[in-house]
Amino acid sequence: MALREKILDRSARIGVIGLGYVGLPLAVEFARAGYATVGIDVDAQRVDKIAAGRSYIQDVPASVVSDLVSTGRLKATTDYKVLKNLDAVSICVPTPLRKTRDPDIQYIADATAKIRECLHPEMLVTLESTTYPGTTDEILLSEFRDAGFEVGRDFYLAFSPERIDPGNSHWNTHNTPKIIGGVTPECTSLAKLLYEQVVERVIPVTSTKSAEMVKLLENTFRAVNIGLVNEIAIMCDKLGINVWEVIEAAATKPFGFMPFYPGPGLGGHCIPIDPLYLSWKLKLLNYTARFIELASEVNTSMPEYVTAKVARALNSARKPVNGSKVLVLGVAYKKDISDIRESPALDVIRLLQQEGAEVAYSDPYAPELRMDHVSLYSRELTPETIRGYDCVVVVTDHTVVDFDMIAREAVLVVDCRNAIRSKASNVIKL
Ligand SMILES: NC(=O)c1ccc[n+]([C@@H]2O[C@H](COP(=O)([O-])OP(=O)(O)OC[C@H]3O[C@@H](n4cnc5c(N)ncnc54)[C@H](O)[C@@H]3O)[C@@H](O)[C@H]2O)c1
Repeated sequence: MALREKILDRSARIGVIGLGYVGLPLAVEFARAGYATVGIDVDAQRVDKIAAGRSYIQDVPASVVSDLVSTGRLKATTDYKVLKNLDAVSICVPTPLRKTRDPDIQYIADATAKIRECLHPEMLVTLESTTYPGTTDEILLSEFRDAGFEVGRDFYLAFSPERIDPGNSHWNTHNTPKIIGGVTPECTSLAKLLYEQVVERVIPVTSTKSAEMVKLLENTFRAVNIGLVNEIAIMCDKLGINVWEVIEAAATKPFGFMPFYPGPGLGGHCIPIDPLYLSWKLKLLNYTARFIELASEVNTSMPEYVTAKVARALNSARKPVNGSKVLVLGVAYKKDISDIRESPALDVIRLLQQEGAEVAYSDPYAPELRMDHVSLYSRELTPETIRGYDCVVVVTDHTVVDFDMIAREAVLVVDCRNAIRSKASNVIKL
């Protein structure tokens, strides 16, 4: 039976490589739609958890996983050989940066090599990992071609960027529109057909490169605007203006303005990283992506700005940073999630420690924090513990935190998120 028919009658067998924030929700959507779905991950612990019907991703309820696993529709394995029996596979592996801040595409290369060993007629391969324009053609297509496979005849290949927003209770894998760009029109058409079975709206573009660029435009747009507003915050501070009030007032304009908010710096696996994939690619073409570089410079300097702000606040209370007890409140990179990857809180903690502060943290979503091979443990937020610190730094504004209590009990608060409504003199805004 042709792939098109298998997709339509739900007999297509689907694989998802990389069962993280992106891959697990996607695998769940395919399984929910009635496809026999296998998740492939190198992390045996994750695979075991899925097999046991458990979830380790906050946005995926364990009950959903256990239902799908018990009906046999969702399976997980570390064994790539299952690819031989799959009709379509989506790659959702990490795309981090190297220490040199260059793209690290070893995970994509690894998954590609494994797929190549199992590639078979009519197999559809879709890359979802965020990456620089050209990756799908330069890495996947060329490897499959070198192995003697012809696209459109022996296999189909497309890029479809994931747009998941962890912790967002409204927009999820199912209802967030999805972009698809295939190597050939038939690749686009088949990938679109497959994703249309599990995603409400699929928008085709004319090439894999366009699809790759769409994702980078979206995330560069965020990084640059956050960089801009962070610099506006620094300027407002120098001018003695409340930046939060300015943004709220500007946001009343019904057209031509979209509010972005300053903060302690970028975090997560997307916004601080993805634009650098684009600027790296342009460097190879002797072009400097100036907005990206500038935004990255401003955004990465924010933890230092916060640390200086804490030092100034302590100084005004006649206390040196050295020896002061500081509580960093929230270490996840954004509110209501547990992800601490690239979190600016880690830099803030490190910088304050370097200045001699005794730093503790509290985060209801992150009970333990490994920093430089040392474990820190989240402190409980009680009026008594709060009173014990010389300064509380609000880095992440988790909804469950009682910020009124923090404002009332803390000796001093530096609020990087405008989480505290109190205008009392012990509260200093970013
Ligand atoms: N997290 C987000 O909010 C988000 C949003 C949109 C796009 N993305 C992009 O999606 C991709 C995946 O991100 P994520 O947040 O899901 O990452 P993640 O770290 O949560 O998950 C990746 C998974 O891939 C597994 N893995 C690594 N190498 C593998 C290999 N060779 N074979 C099989 N499994 C392997 C890891 O064990 C892990 O379970 C990245 O390119 C990221 O930029 C992420």
